Amino acid sequence: MTLMHTLPDLPEKAQWIDEPEPVKVSTQRNWGHYIWMVLAGRTNLLSMWPDSAYQMKIFTARLLRQHYFVCNSPDTVRQVFLDQHDNYDQKGPQMRSALEPLLGDGLFVSDGDLWKERRAYCSPAFENELLPYYANIMTECCKEVSERWSSLPPSTEVDMLNEMARLTARIIGRTVFGDETSDEEAAQVVQGFSEYQHNIEQLGLADTFGLPFLRKFTNPIKRYRCETSGKRVHEVIDTIIARQEAQTSSKKFSLISLFVDGHKGRDGTVQGCPLSRLAARNEAIVMFMAGHETTANVLAWTWYLLDHNPRVAAKLHAELDSVLGGRTPTLDDVPNLPYTRAVFEETMRLYPPVPLLSRQARAEDQIRRRPIEKNSIILVIPWLLHRHVDFWEAPNHFIPERFLPGNPRPDKFIYLPFSVGRRVCLGMRFGLTEGILCIATLAQAFQARVKPSHEVKIECRLTLRPKGGLPMQLTRR
Ligand code: HEM
Repeated sequence: MTLMHTLPDLPEKAQWIDEPEPVKVSTQRNWGHYIWMVLAGRTNLLSMWPDSAYQMKIFTARLLRQHYFVCNSPDTVRQVFLDQHDNYDQKGPQMRSALEPLLGDGLFVSDGDLWKERRAYCSPAFENELLPYYANIMTECCKEVSERWSSLPPSTEVDMLNEMARLTARIIGRTVFGDETSDEEAAQVVQGFSEYQHNIEQLGLADTFGLPFLRKFTNPIKRYRCETSGKRVHEVIDTIIARQEAQTSSKKFSLISLFVDGHKGRDGTVQGCPLSRLAARNEAIVMFMAGHETTANVLAWTWYLLDHNPRVAAKLHAELDSVLGGRTPTLDDVPNLPYTRAVFEETMRLYPPVPLLSRQARAEDQIRRRPIEKNSIILVIPWLLHRHVDFWEAPNHFIPERFLPGNPRPDKFIYLPFSVGRRVCLGMRFGLTEGILCIATLAQAFQARVKPSHEVKIECRLTLRPKGGLPMQLTRR
């Protein structure tokens, strides 16, 4: 059976393939020396891969004492993320040491029984019944941006990455912390995160080479900056939690209220006891971190791609005009916006916000008959899988039509912007709905063009985003 996800067989197909490709990363010609690849990876984790990595199904490497295994095919991804999950539930050591000072034992970095307990605890907050409540917050926040943009003179330059980050921070801020959170508190959290991310070293050499003693030699200035920005985030969230605890009556629902007060099932039975203050803080930070930057980055890339491809922009506008006719979309409109959804999904294929997923093997194993040592680092790289030449027709082109209903869905172990298996993104439905509603509200009223002198480049740290922001000129449609 072929796993190639082909384009719909329509007469326009030849035209799609002729369109220019959007920006991608430079690749190495061949496998260089691993040490040079690691050094290349310290500035951009995606430019270390040679062209052949987009064709291979597995590859392995040894960096001093550390064994690496890259799963680059659906069967190997399935084994690690689903079939043998218990052996591979632990995040890679670079990810753990980068995030633990900020997230503590929060869901994103925990594993084993604690992860199972917290996952079960947090899951009810993402059930379908709550989606209408979240969708109202999403459209309210989009309307506020739309009103602000309407008051700007024509062709005003904005940093679209920053605009989208502010929008999604506001949405997730109100969802997690509730309405009472001031803009200043939300801004402090965003600022703290961004400074933290700027100063952590994702490819810590100690973990990369399996030499723990090297951890002592991390850059002390960066370590200090990380500690201070992490502390600032903790302080703001502690204040919000204390305010929540002090409120006795007329409490509005928010994720923090659920963590602090515990929650009940639909039949009124207690399903989760209140979390300790520290656990509530950690889970609130996880939700804020996981839910804000990911969506913001996809939305920023969407604006870039719509400017890059006028054909797609015109089709999107036609759908929005005919379905919405200028009114603000609601959750009920989402199923009637298949092209908008396809644009969002195709953007996540080309620019997956979490482009690299890592795990550490608890015990020896075999993958495709290759031995896996205990503590090996297993990498699943959506960036490579989403552009693999055996799995996608025209892999580097922006063609949303491949995601339209009627065309078969890509294999879920090949297209995995939200990951897959037991640790799949908890906010998947939230993020998808948010993306569609934000594009629908803003793109029906505005167009944006990349500033002519600006060259769009890709930056990959913990997430994938346009390097140095995305300066764009904004006009009303
Ligand atoms: C377009 C938007 C989003 C994308 C592409 C995305 C992607 C991902 C990915 C790839 C992971 C797995 C990471 C790994 O295994 O290392 C993940 C985990 C997670 N995401 Fe999302 N996410 C998005 C939005 C959200 C939102 C809006 C929320 C919450 C409101 C959220 C909450 C989480 C949580 C809690 C986890 C950890 C799950 C676990 O480990 O059990 N995400 N996300």
